[in-house]
Amino acid sequence: MPVPVPPPDPADRVTELRRILLEHNRAYYELDAPTVPDAEYDALMVELRELEARHPELDEPDSPSHVVGGVATTTFAPVVHAVPMMSLDNAFDLDELAAWAERDRKGLAAAGLEPGPFVCELKFDGLAMSIRYERGVLVRAATRGDGRVGEDVTANVRTIASVPHRLGPGAPEVLEARGEVYMPVAVFEALNESQLAAGKARYANPRNTAAGSLRQKDPSVTASRRLSFWCYQLGEVVGGPDVATHSESLAFVADFGLPVNPELRVVGTLDDVQAYIAALHDRRHDLDYEIDGVVVKLDPLAQRTALGATSRAPKWAIAYKFPPEERTTKLLAIEVSVGGKGKATPFAVLQPVFVGGSTVGMATLHNEDQVRVKDVRPGDTVIVRKAGDVIPEVLGPELAERPAGLPAWEFPEVCPCPLATPLAREGDDAAHYCREVECPYQRAGWIEHFASRAAMDIEGFGEQRVRLFCDLGLIADVGDIYTLDLDRVRAIDRFGETSVRNLAAAIEASKSRGLGPLLIGLNIRHLGDTNSEVLAGAFGNLDAIMEASVDDLASVPGIGPVIARSVFEYFRNPRHRAVVEKLRAAGVDITGPEPSESFVPQTLTGRSVVVTGTLEGFTRDGAEAAIKARGGKSPGSVSKSTTAVVVGDAPGASKITKAEQLGIPQLDEAAFVRLLETGELP
Ligand code: IVH
Repeated sequence: MPVPVPPPDPADRVTELRRILLEHNRAYYELDAPTVPDAEYDALMVELRELEARHPELDEPDSPSHVVGGVATTTFAPVVHAVPMMSLDNAFDLDELAAWAERDRKGLAAAGLEPGPFVCELKFDGLAMSIRYERGVLVRAATRGDGRVGEDVTANVRTIASVPHRLGPGAPEVLEARGEVYMPVAVFEALNESQLAAGKARYANPRNTAAGSLRQKDPSVTASRRLSFWCYQLGEVVGGPDVATHSESLAFVADFGLPVNPELRVVGTLDDVQAYIAALHDRRHDLDYEIDGVVVKLDPLAQRTALGATSRAPKWAIAYKFPPEERTTKLLAIEVSVGGKGKATPFAVLQPVFVGGSTVGMATLHNEDQVRVKDVRPGDTVIVRKAGDVIPEVLGPELAERPAGLPAWEFPEVCPCPLATPLAREGDDAAHYCREVECPYQRAGWIEHFASRAAMDIEGFGEQRVRLFCDLGLIADVGDIYTLDLDRVRAIDRFGETSVRNLAAAIEASKSRGLGPLLIGLNIRHLGDTNSEVLAGAFGNLDAIMEASVDDLASVPGIGPVIARSVFEYFRNPRHRAVVEKLRAAGVDITGPEPSESFVPQTLTGRSVVVTGTLEGFTRDGAEAAIKARGGKSPGSVSKSTTAVVVGDAPGASKITKAEQLGIPQLDEAAFVRLLETGELP
């Protein structure tokens, strides 16, 4: 007779099921290599859920059963930080660093304390994250957000291999580990290699790629990006051990399994801090992660408490930022790009070089005069500078390395597009222009600009897609955006149904942006974003602007004769009129805010009027708007540059006192109305 097998202990079985399921999850989501058929996985999950339902005492918040299909989707729901996540003040050179240390020394002297020792840490170039553990279990991970409220990215952070889901035994009741999520350089490079192999665009730098990887709704995408984490600060801690220094607190969390960077050093003097900075500056590229400086903190917690913080940053820490990096590379060629308004801009084509956190292969050279002043020539070895997210810059040539007889560069005489129309400078403008309305480069540039955020804000209509649609003949001008043949887009193999649907929705939504954004999008020479809004407000609809004379346009406050003429001429061009008709036919809103009755006389230009107390005929916002509409300013406090203080009911005592001290006129409501109308003070 077979011996009956006793049913397993539910607690053991639950533990075992969780272990198996987590292993399968990891194989599936992180390694992209499923180890069991879906049906088997589902059966294990059903068994776990049933056991947990029958034995609620065994339930745990981090059980794989609590996440849909093995993985919860990321919610991005708002999370209020228990302790605000502060930022850091920066020091851009050693003098600023010394000035910070001196401020702290004085601050501490007042409390009878001497500063130091200091903790030197790396300034990781990633994204700040707060990871909350309750009774040792990871319950929430949130981004910094505005420091007070962040976004819930728990499901994504759970996929980061170096972030423990559980802390070791004896973990405090509550522990918030704060630190930086980053993408290791090797992972970034591998990712870019596979992008290139798949014919896709490169990612710009590890930081932005890490940010993009965390902004995924589907954590399996985040998992595939192999992010990592360094803990450098604690937020809320309940029931932790008594520690007297920051370095002890980090050693303590490291014991529980949180990753703390090994480069951390406790040093005694500012000289030691400087030596650390110098050493790390030299070694920064040997590290497997990006850093953009060194963070210096006072180690004793008592000194931190004595110094406190401003609303933005603690006084006991400073971020020393490395200076912008410079590298040399070969200038392979100088080419010219033609933008939406026909402007031809020269740019440097460089032998790709890794500088300031990203690979630079191109850099603008602005215009002909700049190329001449910098004296850079194709074939030169040039110095390239870049700091963080800042646009790369060619500083100049290494003259010692210039080959003999290298000719200076000449601005090309014709547009690089197939029509090859002449390029010319106009007046004393340093730029060259292509004036061919059929120029395909201009068209693509215009379409990109039309779809950009400042204009019609059509998401998914960026440079690459515009070029693709233009090359495929799907669109030739901005009017065609609204009659884009979606079936042909669908036929392009890179477009899935979701992208097509999103694109269609974005195009539809852009129809109701209104006249201001539309005018920006029309790309009228000399007409900037602010004046586009001004014209929209003054005329109220596009037809009135199209029919306005140069004088009508120039009579709008803020619109000078050059802009007025440019707008007038724009609408005399039949091609531009044809585009407007396409937009109108497509149902794009060509009206703006109600036109103002008459243009408001600018009685308060350059003057500053402070309002205090309640007025009868104006709300507070209304009074401010009336001042601003007349060209004035309405700040919240009185200073010696205040023109007048308008005093309503229950005014602010400090404003009145200040006005009296400085001898600034105080006006009642009637005098205020007169001031608005005539600009005169009583
Ligand atoms: S401490 C209350 N330590 O830099 C102090 N921040 O520019 C909180 N960062 O928002 C910050 N490395 O995202 C600290 N070792 C480090 C850091 C670090 C990078 C980031 C962090 C912060 C930003 C401020």
